[in-house]
Amino acid sequence: MLGREIARQLDEADPLRRFRTAFDLPPGAIYLAGNSLGALPHKAVERVATVMREEWGKDLIRSWNVHDWIDMPSRVGDRIGQLIGAAPGETVIADSTSVNLMKLLSAALPLRPDRRVILSDTENFPNDLYIAQGLVKLLGAPYELRLVDPDEIEHALDDSVAILMMTEVDYRTGRRHDMKRLTQRAHAAGALTLWDLCHSVGAFPVDLNGCEADLAVGCTYKYLNGGPGSPAFLFVTTRLQDQIQPYLSGWMGHQKPFAFDLEYRPAKGILRHLAGTPPILATASLDAALEIMLAADPDALRKKSLALSDLLIRLVDERLTDHGFTIVTPRDHAQRGSQVSLNHPSGYPIVQALIAAGVTGDFRAPSTIRFGLAPLYTSFEDVWLAAETLVALMQEERWRRPEFQSRNAVT
Ligand SMILES: Cc1ncc(COP(=O)(O)O)c(C=O)c1O
Repeated sequence: MLGREIARQLDEADPLRRFRTAFDLPPGAIYLAGNSLGALPHKAVERVATVMREEWGKDLIRSWNVHDWIDMPSRVGDRIGQLIGAAPGETVIADSTSVNLMKLLSAALPLRPDRRVILSDTENFPNDLYIAQGLVKLLGAPYELRLVDPDEIEHALDDSVAILMMTEVDYRTGRRHDMKRLTQRAHAAGALTLWDLCHSVGAFPVDLNGCEADLAVGCTYKYLNGGPGSPAFLFVTTRLQDQIQPYLSGWMGHQKPFAFDLEYRPAKGILRHLAGTPPILATASLDAALEIMLAADPDALRKKSLALSDLLIRLVDERLTDHGFTIVTPRDHAQRGSQVSLNHPSGYPIVQALIAAGVTGDFRAPSTIRFGLAPLYTSFEDVWLAAETLVALMQEERWRRPEFQSRNAVT
């Protein structure tokens, strides 16, 4: 059986070990929910305090110019661009992932005027489907959101499909789709691709341009540690930037926002996809968090993430399958994001009992327990202790207690 000592040795050999102290994690906490909400970076606290006291507090409205607040969306966007294989000027910070999806889907459909189908898969994050449903409703028939099993996507790419919309890493299982292959297939069928990178960015290096992806969106509060509700990003390949026109045409995306023209004229490039005033405090927090992420070697991040998930999978195989758990995360590294998901019919009370025992994971209906493995601050010993805690609570049947049965609003 794999002992704690081995986990400790893995930590000692971990080149990313020094990054853990950059985060303000409660002492003794085992936090495996960084795929939902990343940990708090010390630098984010300092940066937000400085922006509030020194910039907002002292320079007030002049800060838009003197502290260059106005360029923050593109400046911070370009930093994210480095993590997702984008060229400078292809990524911008704006709104939420949901809003950015609506913006890009609506703006990109006219690029395929003879086609009416948005193609996606039945395992996609339901929110993304809701957004596409709203757009289809707005546009009316014959526009259509077509859903197929994720393994049927390639067969479903025909000449009716305008946009293939997929989430690279499945939120529930942690399965990673082959972005390059699916993008090639979509292009061969004449369709554009829109990738949701919520569970990819910061978890492993993404290569949008290497895959020739067209469009992408993603959030920054998971592996990027931007903070609760921190602003999202959107990516538009340079190839399409002049052709794609936003429908959510706000003043921040105008060529000259302060000319106050009566007619909307889109700004050049990626900036036209901005709509309203950027959230400066939340973007400052994100920017500080990105400094930490960008100091880490991306290949080391991926290597560690896979080693963490390999360890957890091995511990579950050894010690938890007898307790009714099944691993739903792919064992093949190429198909794995940075989480390990287990199915169990009593998944919800088990997660509640785990949290009460100091190990934070989360739950996704109907029966999936998720453990996010954020390679910047998760240690191998954390993973070992999480498995040990889970084994103990299953043996003692602690999860059966009444206090763990009623569902919170957020699971
Ligand atoms: C894959 C995926 N897409 C979209 C979203 C929604 O993002 P937001 O609520 O920030 O718009 C989430 C949120 O968890 C997500 O996991």
